[in-house]
Amino acid sequence: MNKMKDRVKSIANQLSEAGVKNAQVGIILGTGLGSLVEEIEIEKSIPYDSINGLPKATVEFHQGKLIYGSLSGTKVIAMQGRFHYYEGYTASEIVIPVRVMHELGVEKLLISNAAGNLNSDWSKGDLMLINDHINLQPDNPLRGMDGQAFGHIFVDMSEPYNLQMNDTLKRIASRAKVRLREGVYSAVAGPNLETKAEYRFLRMIGADAVGMSTVPEVIAANQLGLPVAAISVLTDDCDPDNLAPVNIEEILAVAKKSERGLVKIITEYLEQ
Ligand code: HPA
Repeated sequence: MNKMKDRVKSIANQLSEAGVKNAQVGIILGTGLGSLVEEIEIEKSIPYDSINGLPKATVEFHQGKLIYGSLSGTKVIAMQGRFHYYEGYTASEIVIPVRVMHELGVEKLLISNAAGNLNSDWSKGDLMLINDHINLQPDNPLRGMDGQAFGHIFVDMSEPYNLQMNDTLKRIASRAKVRLREGVYSAVAGPNLETKAEYRFLRMIGADAVGMSTVPEVIAANQLGLPVAAISVLTDDCDPDNLAPVNIEEILAVAKKSERGLVKIITEYLEQ
């Protein structure tokens, strides 16, 4: 057996023994985007550091938790806090939660993240439904033996974000009068923010948003045949010709403010 496959199975077994069962939807919550958890009727709240086999938490994720419960009548597993490449994990470690949730039987995956806004027609605070991505991270979860254990590795990426989920999310946003942009997310390694020249480059290659996550998880979900949709909260304007210094506190503050729309969209999505 493959080591990573064993590790995923062992984590899934621990969770199902702890009562995490029959979840239909998996949710990965981005940095500063935890308030969805307040809407969940929580049955289990399991700290990451009590789950054997999950990557060891770094400082940022001392409070990482797996939440299991009901949201709008749907059984969900929500990962409050994700693993990032910039924390030192490999891409294959980053996607362990996706593979575990799939092993536990989730049928759909919803992802949120905080990202910089590259599109000059939009502004910080907007939400963006991701309809495609550009991977600029120097690792890939399908690379090597770890990747091969979960299916063939030459995964088709012509439609990585599920069209049906995206259509439903757009319909819900429009009905709820939450402005939802739609565009291309680029994933960089981080952890530093980008230079003006880098933002200029990212615009030129067709990105509307830039962040440090999500793409590894989406690649892993596609390999597993797990339908996935992702929404970015655009937390800062990345205008190379007019760049104000940003700091992580500001980014977190904007994420907090714009989170309400995101929570509304996801909550109503799960009612369907
Ligand atoms: N760049 C990269 N990641 C980010 C940004 C950004 O400007 N804002 C939030 N996450």
